[in-house]
Amino acid sequence: MSSFKPKIIAFCCYNCAYAAADLAGTMRLQYDPCVSVIGVPCTGAIDLTTVLTAFEEGADGVFIAGCLKGECHYKVGNLRALERVKYLKRVLSEAGIDGDRLEMYFLSAAMGSRFAEIAKEMTDRIRGMGPLPLNGCPEEGEGK
Ligand code: FES
Repeated sequence: MSSFKPKIIAFCCYNCAYAAADLAGTMRLQYDPCVSVIGVPCTGAIDLTTVLTAFEEGADGVFIAGCLKGECHYKVGNLRALERVKYLKRVLSEAGIDGDRLEMYFLSAAMGSRFAEIAKEMTDRIRGMGPLPLNGCPEEGEGK
């Protein structure tokens, strides 16, 4: 019915989720190429502006993937990121944007197959929601 191809940004901690994404590739696990992985030193470094800018610049969905709870190299960076995600979900909802366009996950470097699952989960979720209204991108036709 729709040829909508979502744009999803995945902010991934270099110490865990980024390596898991890499492992998924090595394991040849398929996930949609609409997911763009951006490595960060720790998810605690991702501030509100970074996430909002991703949406402003065209992302239809964003997920943040950090180290497992208790495993963050900066102790609580991942927990801070989780709090920011919860807060931003509310901010997005108040702005009329479904807060589920943003999600937080926790991974170890060995969880390549889980990364691929998450990428698929988010792709399916965002595809079901359609384009972010903010992006003014109605269903894309085959032409462009
Ligand atoms: Fe990985 Fe903090 S070092 S989330």
